[in-house]
Amino acid sequence: MAKLYIKTYGCQMNVYDSVKMEDLLKPHGFELSNEPESADLVILNTCHIREKATDKVYSELGRIRKGKEQKSAKGENMMIAVAGCVAQAEGEEIFKRAPYVDIVVGPQSYQNLPELIEKAKRKKGWVIDLDFPSNSKFDSMPEESGDRGVSAFLTVQEGCDKFCHFCCVPFTRGAEYSRSVPEIYREALRLISLGVKEITLLGQNVSAYHGEAQEGKTWGLGKLINRLAEIDKLERIRYTTSHPNDMLDEELIEAHANQPKVMPFLHLPVQSGSDKILKAMNRKHNRKYYFEVIEKYRKACPDIAFSSDFIVGYPGETDQDFKDTLDLITQVNYALSYSFKYSPRPGTAAAVLDNQVPEEKKTERLLILQELLNKQQLEFNKSKEELILPVLFDGKGRQQNQYHGKTPYLQTIVIESKYEDLIGKTMKVRIQKAGQNALYGIIVDDTSS
Ligand code: 5AD
Ligand code: SF4
Repeated sequence: MAKLYIKTYGCQMNVYDSVKMEDLLKPHGFELSNEPESADLVILNTCHIREKATDKVYSELGRIRKGKEQKSAKGENMMIAVAGCVAQAEGEEIFKRAPYVDIVVGPQSYQNLPELIEKAKRKKGWVIDLDFPSNSKFDSMPEESGDRGVSAFLTVQEGCDKFCHFCCVPFTRGAEYSRSVPEIYREALRLISLGVKEITLLGQNVSAYHGEAQEGKTWGLGKLINRLAEIDKLERIRYTTSHPNDMLDEELIEAHANQPKVMPFLHLPVQSGSDKILKAMNRKHNRKYYFEVIEKYRKACPDIAFSSDFIVGYPGETDQDFKDTLDLITQVNYALSYSFKYSPRPGTAAAVLDNQVPEEKKTERLLILQELLNKQQLEFNKSKEELILPVLFDGKGRQQNQYHGKTPYLQTIVIESKYEDLIGKTMKVRIQKAGQNALYGIIVDDTSS
């Protein structure tokens, strides 16, 4: 067997794609390895969302190159492929900066990897595929197999038509596309048959899902979730990432109210709390509308927890705009959040604006913002102390008898257990202690499902 090493950067959609690449290459004689130095094929599945993410790829390529040279000194070959969003955005530029790379392949054409590898072997030169094919890449994927863990991702939608002015996604991932309901249902059934208990539906704009259903009609995300919830052994359903503008799907709101398999957690990026900045970002919603969405979901599901993404230092952001963001955060009260300094991305509308915010200002604001978000996260975690929550266990800890799992609110929880084999089971746990990033507790009963 040839050794395959895959390193994944960025979002969950890349994690999903990397698993698919492994699925694709297994029948071609590759097996996964975690040692890049001895690999026959190294794939970097890359992220282009911020400059730092792209820089990381080039420094990793420098390290991989050494492994390639060492192998080559022994008369062996190592093929290097750059996949994902940096591949799509930078294309041939990658060969110029890193001529030892053999293959550049975009996120919509990696189903061609087996052919591209053969081509690279024959040609002994660079091979590039950045097509957005008219047939879905999912049509060419082999059936899921092997160990998919307890919690799996399932991409249901890709791409974005919203063109927020800071974002490279519409360029790297292309236009919005939804997979059909039967195709998703079949994939979910296969994942469940491999032992998966929780599925997270993925999409750059998952709430814009509008896939074809059996009778030729189009279904929204709420209807899709209700259909998947009919699968007996599927215990938990999550979805990410949602856009506020697509959240008034009555069936989705209803599912949060009445479908116990839908977890009470919603990642709903707002980016900024200032109406002026939201407008400049081309978000097409204001803060009032965002609050209304939050209210609707809180009404349907009173214990729902929210998370968000924030960008500080967007061009033109004043101290007052930043204060508005802090105010929005205080009003919503988040369980978890991700925050970033604005990073100009080539080809996007905001990158060429001349009112860029100085780096020091961005750093200063990010620190203030993160202090508030961390405080909210800790308070949220602490609010669960002494409660009994159902925990789905997904792995073993470092110590003997230690297991970790997730609460319905996506919190990581660690427990010591006298029980064996907790992985894949849902058990009631009393939360004893809450920290910034994890909870600690004990199992209170063994009525597992
Ligand atoms: N600079 C900083 N953060 C960005 N994001 C997207 N583009 C940029 C950028 N140019 C953030 C947004 C998005 C998350 C995935 O990454 O907050 O929701
Ligand atoms: Fe990027 Fe905006 Fe589309 Fe999200 S909605 S992927 S931030 S353009």
